[in-house]
Amino acid sequence: MRTFVAVIGAGAALLLGGTAYAADASALAQKDGCLACHTVDKKVVGPAFKDVAKKYAGNKDAEAMLVKKVKDGGSGTWGPIPMPPNGPRVSDADIKTLVQWVLSLK
Ligand code: HEC
Repeated sequence: MRTFVAVIGAGAALLLGGTAYAADASALAQKDGCLACHTVDKKVVGPAFKDVAKKYAGNKDAEAMLVKKVKDGGSGTWGPIPMPPNGPRVSDADIKTLVQWVLSLK
């Protein structure tokens, strides 16, 4: 657990030093805590959002599946580290916006 917290801390520090993204959705990702574990183009605790977009490109079912996964959490797609549930802390509307944004990244 201590290592896990340290990893998250490192991710957050990385972000504080880092890139400013223009889009509103990235501010939402910041506010909703996604960027503690994710960035757009580098794997941190979770996969890079660009890699997620690449993986599901052309997959019509991806949006619904990912909304559910972000809400309920889960593991095994990118490795053994689980994503904790983000709902109901993060609203369904926010999660939908975030997933659509992630899938739109190139
Ligand atoms: C505590 C760390 C953590 C936080 C906070 C977090 N994630 Fe994740 N996320 C992960 C991990 C780890 C995975 C990989 C899970 C797996 O391998 O199945 C992941 C996977 C994902 C995926 C891909 C899922 C798949 O099945 O391909 C998406 C999309 C995603 N996260 C979006 C988000 C969004 C949006 C938020 C903010 C609401 C968020 N994450 C917050 C750690 C986190």
